[in-house]
Amino acid sequence: GGPLGLICAIPEEIAHFGAHFRADSERQIAGFTFQQGDMDGRAVVLVEAGIGKVNAAIVATLLLQVFGVRALLFSGVAGGVDPALAIGDVVVATRLVQHDYGALAGGEMKVYQPGVPPLPGFDDAHGYDLDSGLEAKARAALDGLVLPALSAAATGGEARVPGIHFGTVLTGDQFLNCETSRDRLFRTFAAQAVEMEGASVAQVATRWGVPYLVVRSLSDLAGADSHMDFPAFCRAAAAGAAELIRRLAAVL
Ligand code: ADE
Repeated sequence: GGPLGLICAIPEEIAHFGAHFRADSERQIAGFTFQQGDMDGRAVVLVEAGIGKVNAAIVATLLLQVFGVRALLFSGVAGGVDPALAIGDVVVATRLVQHDYGALAGGEMKVYQPGVPPLPGFDDAHGYDLDSGLEAKARAALDGLVLPALSAAATGGEARVPGIHFGTVLTGDQFLNCETSRDRLFRTFAAQAVEMEGASVAQVATRWGVPYLVVRSLSDLAGADSHMDFPAFCRAAAAGAAELIRRLAAVL
């Protein structure tokens, strides 16, 4: 029962659904526009949440409580954390962690250790693991998928076919434009990408007991150049995440 809830943060991300989504009606709540309609023959409520964990949590909660969605999907861009990944590559989140959740002491970020959950019963420190059954279905749905090549202008390097990865995605209310922090996050979490909404959606979905999938394509590498790469590559990169999300909608 219920439609799918599909969240993006910014116009460059939601734009890729335009050709595949037909809105039947829309409803404004708290300044957010929820478009109710059809994507590839499925009932979907599509919404642009804006940036950050709080916006994502508000929108996720409204999708569940007001629109009765049966699952949450997030499609968007991220900064690369794993140096093995390049701009345009896509990451399906198998774990989502709020990297800015913890204690600061002596100028150092102390992430809460697994097993010290600030909310009883929900291990927010460890993060949110993708259900193994859903992961298997997602892998099967994406098997053999080859994304369209991105031009050299769309990657800042060479023209290439984006890679499709499964891995850890970090979430925090900070745009990463800092090589030192990117390196610390890679060493702390062995993560593939960093963004600003995904773990928030995972937390809300977990509280409601509904499935979720977060897919991110890399617009930048979160280091010294990310403030220039992000605006240059964001729109083209976001196409990859949208392409995967349309296929993954079939498994939810
Ligand atoms: N989304 C896209 N690039 C990002 C970055 N470098 N930091 C956080 N969120 C992002």
